[in-house]
Amino acid sequence: MFGSRIAGMGHYVPDRVVKNDDLSQWMDTTDEWIVQRTGIRERRWVEGDVGAAELAEHASRQALEEAGLSPSDIDMILFATLSPDICFPGSGCLLQARLGIPGVPALDVRNQCSGFLYSLSVADQFIRTGAMKRILVVGAEVHSTGLDLSTRGRDVTVIFGDGAGAAILEQTEGESRILDTELHADGRYAEMLMAEAPASRLNPRLSVEMLEAGRQFPKMDGKAVFKQAVERLPEVIHSVLRRNGVALADVALLVPHQANLRINEMVARQLNFPFEKVYNNIQRYGNTTAASIPIALHEAAGEGRLKKGDYVLLAGFGSGFTWGASLVRW
Ligand code: UT7
Repeated sequence: MFGSRIAGMGHYVPDRVVKNDDLSQWMDTTDEWIVQRTGIRERRWVEGDVGAAELAEHASRQALEEAGLSPSDIDMILFATLSPDICFPGSGCLLQARLGIPGVPALDVRNQCSGFLYSLSVADQFIRTGAMKRILVVGAEVHSTGLDLSTRGRDVTVIFGDGAGAAILEQTEGESRILDTELHADGRYAEMLMAEAPASRLNPRLSVEMLEAGRQFPKMDGKAVFKQAVERLPEVIHSVLRRNGVALADVALLVPHQANLRINEMVARQLNFPFEKVYNNIQRYGNTTAASIPIALHEAAGEGRLKKGDYVLLAGFGSGFTWGASLVRW
């Protein structure tokens, strides 16, 4: 039975470090509030005109190098982002041009914080059927150019950061592979975390009045998102383990989406799972949405937190609402 293994990974964050105190120059916030409510101490922001595809290129080239491959070895690109470089075409096409592999299919996945998990699952299905042998899966976000830097947007703005993470999925018949990914969505809650403009359902899509009202910025009902996240994440983690006959006690590492350190603490508590076995780097990067799981997974692997044969759980929840969990045999 074919499956897909992670043959190499990469990640990239811009050089510019924005500390919590730096945010206080634009909005009424404090380092103390941000650390206490989210765990975040700093995040990275791009400088100048840098889009998601550029960050993704850095991460992808590193992943290719780690896998000992070149761009021409790739059969397909899956690009998860909520912050595409331009409205259309997708950033996958832009990344494909940057990597110099014309003709290779490129698909954008618009599933926000769960985007990497959705992409991983799609890539895994293509590889299991034998249709593709190697797929580049990348999550990349440039949030910083689309945030409300005034006090009006402080609840959302302080949590987001820019970055990219990439994985090369390769066909395998071995034991190290993606065992399963369980995915969910509930569109009834779409408006609880969204950036609504420019929008095809608005005519015009964008106006001066809309810009003045800040409708181009992300809006969130933070408490509602938090509440759902701490319920749905343990649920989906238990479910994916159950359907694969793996005990939580046998999981070596949980790599959750990095939305809020308090969410991850609460999820670990609800699972009765030791927090030392939960990987977190939100302190340094904030919430990089589709990039957060691959950045964290790559860092965890780089720090020697994973050895061959380990069970690793990836889990995320976010806008849509969308959520899911992947069980990986490292
Ligand atoms: O990755 C996508 C999924 N996203 C998430 O999972 C995020 C989930 N939600 C959260 O992480 C939290 O809800 C936040 C960190 C966004 C907010 O924390 P909270 O504890 O829910 O605070 P809140 O929004 O209820 O605000 C509490 C108070 C309010 O003041 P009053 O009304 O009590 O006077 C806010 O105006 O904190 C105020 N506040 C701030 N104060 C200083 C909100 N943002 C800030 C800020 N600095 N940045």
